[in-house]
Amino acid sequence: MTEDLPRSTTLRPGIRTFKPRRSRITPRAEQALARRTDLLIPFQDSLLDLARVWGEGTDVILEIGCGDGRATVTMAGQQPDVGIWAVDVHTPGLGTLLADLDVGAITNVRVTEADALAVLERMVTPHSLAGVRSYFPDPWPKARHHKRRLVQPGVLALVRSRLQPGAAWHLATDWQEYADAILAEFAADPGWIGGLIERPADRPITHYEQRALREGRTAVDLQFISR
Ligand SMILES: C[S@@+](CC[C@H](N)C(=O)[O-])C[C@H]1O[C@@H](n2cnc3c(N)ncnc32)[C@H](O)[C@@H]1O
Repeated sequence: MTEDLPRSTTLRPGIRTFKPRRSRITPRAEQALARRTDLLIPFQDSLLDLARVWGEGTDVILEIGCGDGRATVTMAGQQPDVGIWAVDVHTPGLGTLLADLDVGAITNVRVTEADALAVLERMVTPHSLAGVRSYFPDPWPKARHHKRRLVQPGVLALVRSRLQPGAAWHLATDWQEYADAILAEFAADPGWIGGLIERPADRPITHYEQRALREGRTAVDLQFISR
């Protein structure tokens, strides 16, 4: 399925930041995907009018790699006036997210099943986003896979070009070496300022973070402001 997704041009040809996962979809997630098509924004090869989706003047935050959306749902519930655009390639996770939005009666989230880099390139108007979030991006720990990491120079340039000046990219990772690499990548780019921050009280513990904690790792939060 992921083979059919529109390709991003930010990374080298053939390189993607995600791996195809063939996990089974639950009936609950499948039903939510069929029922809540009103919350789905299909990938399109043209700019999306954010105001038409979330209302004129609404701040919109794009989440790259929302997974099953545990953080998405909790944080959207705490910020009902902010538009949240959750993007992932993992269909079962997006179904779970839609089901949980139903349970919480949360109306400010929209969901796109696509490579978030292609979404940023082709659907997002320059300097329109109020924020970007990436919680536990795949760490790609092997050196030969580092080229698949989300945080790399081309992606920094892409995200910055879509953020309003002064808006933030908030990340979290449980992989110390990736955290160090993230700090180094941003430090090398004069378009950003930031670093480690305290864990925001509103960011809940996701399944990935729970597993990391069980395995003895701890998460750090990082925030970088686009200049
Ligand atoms: C390790 S998981 C973390 C999920 C979630 N943020 C959490 O904390 O539970 C990383 C997620 O990022 C997604 N992902 C990676 N690269 C992506 C991309 N370019 N576009 C959309 N999703 C991506 C993967 O499919 C996966 O669901």
